[in-house]
Amino acid sequence: MRNALVLPALVAGLLPLAAAEPIKASLVLRADRPASVINKNIYGHFAEHLGRLIYEGIWVGENSPIPNTGGVRNDVLAALKDLNIPVLRWPGGCFADEYHWRDGIGPRDKRPRRPNASWGGVDTNAFGTHEFLQLCELLGADPYINGNLGSGTAQETMDWIEYMTSDSDSTLANLRRQNGREKPWKIPYFAVGNESWGCGGEMRPEYYADEYRRYQTFVKNYSGNHIQKLAVGSHDDYYQWTDILMERAGKYMDGLSLHYYTLPTSNWNHKGSATQFDESAWHATLARTLRMEEFVTRHSEIMDKYDPNKRVGLMVDEWGTWYDAEPGRNMGALYQQNTLRDAVVAGINLNIFNEHSDRVKMANIAQVVNVLQAMILTDKERMVLTPTYHVFRMYRVHQGATRIPVELTASRYTLGDSSIPSVSASASRDSAGRVHVSIVNLDPNRPVELATTIAGGQFGNVSGEVLTAAAMNAMNTFDSPAAVKPAPFSAFKLAGSDLTVTVPSKSVVVLELK
Ligand code: AHR
Repeated sequence: MRNALVLPALVAGLLPLAAAEPIKASLVLRADRPASVINKNIYGHFAEHLGRLIYEGIWVGENSPIPNTGGVRNDVLAALKDLNIPVLRWPGGCFADEYHWRDGIGPRDKRPRRPNASWGGVDTNAFGTHEFLQLCELLGADPYINGNLGSGTAQETMDWIEYMTSDSDSTLANLRRQNGREKPWKIPYFAVGNESWGCGGEMRPEYYADEYRRYQTFVKNYSGNHIQKLAVGSHDDYYQWTDILMERAGKYMDGLSLHYYTLPTSNWNHKGSATQFDESAWHATLARTLRMEEFVTRHSEIMDKYDPNKRVGLMVDEWGTWYDAEPGRNMGALYQQNTLRDAVVAGINLNIFNEHSDRVKMANIAQVVNVLQAMILTDKERMVLTPTYHVFRMYRVHQGATRIPVELTASRYTLGDSSIPSVSASASRDSAGRVHVSIVNLDPNRPVELATTIAGGQFGNVSGEVLTAAAMNAMNTFDSPAAVKPAPFSAFKLAGSDLTVTVPSKSVVVLELK
């Protein structure tokens, strides 16, 4: 009877294997070869009118019993502020190509209620331009507005940009003043459509390239504002899209997007559970998320052909895990739990973006609250921070720092006939001279013993944080909100210039070297 209970638990990875042999690995930090600056926008986020993200997750309204600042809930605001969110994308996603900005300005009780045709339900438009830009100001984040190419017009976009950014005595600037905002806002990023190869209009790349060229002409700069124009890019391995866009429209854009979601099964009809999974689903999920490396590399190579000086950024403005809807939940709301597996996925992807920071200038995880790989989950007045949240907080030290190239040698993590790297790492030096190293151990059973050396530098004081748990599917719930949280890390030995770090199985570690 005892074995009958213990064996399934071991199979499900719920109990640690006793005294597993460590994986031997080595890491050289090439501090003698400083590389590109890690654009802080790699740590960006995404907020779409979808499910309970905007309404309930962020916006509760000024009259809500939930404590709020101008309608934005205080608990979520305080938690997000801790992440130093550099940039926030809004209002979609697919929703962006059906959004008409005039619906979301003026007195809230006069705003039209519109069906959310992408995700279901009715949007009250209580959260519109002013509310979004107020949220960005409260967070200290740059706004990234995704324009409507699919069902909107260039004139509508031109008017929206004038409304937000013009300091003149024009009718639209005065309408903004009448609606409560005297000073114009700065809008640094504006995208022309979203997924125009799919929900944004089912376009061919040749057609979108021409539409982009026409439409972007009317994305104007007013009153000293400078907009970086972003074009709809590819998804996954749709390399032809990138090639045609760069060839035909590359010189008219500052950024080209890329979307890639991690599904445990890569089958959109049966994606897999967010919480109920075994080691084979863990391994398959990590193998699929690691494909980001291949996609970023190959899209970058295509961009290099047309833009060798890397002026145009690759903006990975949607990425993250996507699982089956939780049993009993509305499928269209895309609400999912978040486990230690998601934390490991986040660490791997952020390391990949850091390593490609010469071309990747922005990334926006999907999405910030209550949708897909969220930072925060809410249930009415309650809130919980996910394991992914903690990774973003631990990794914020890389924002704007200078990348230090890493040379990593480690054996692979093999399960059945599939094998993936067992370790992922990235390093940077900040403006105060501190070196940060982020390390992910992908193996759920074995620690990694990482012999670390620094070329062109010396280790002095070492400290760190670790995020791990006993089970692969450990998660934070409303009743147990701190089951997965960072802890101080001290499993390292410093002997002269040699640093040996023991990275626990299935963990994310960030070290600080001073
Ligand atoms: O993030 C959810 C959806 O995924 C977005 O609306 C769309 O752009 C993508 O397909």
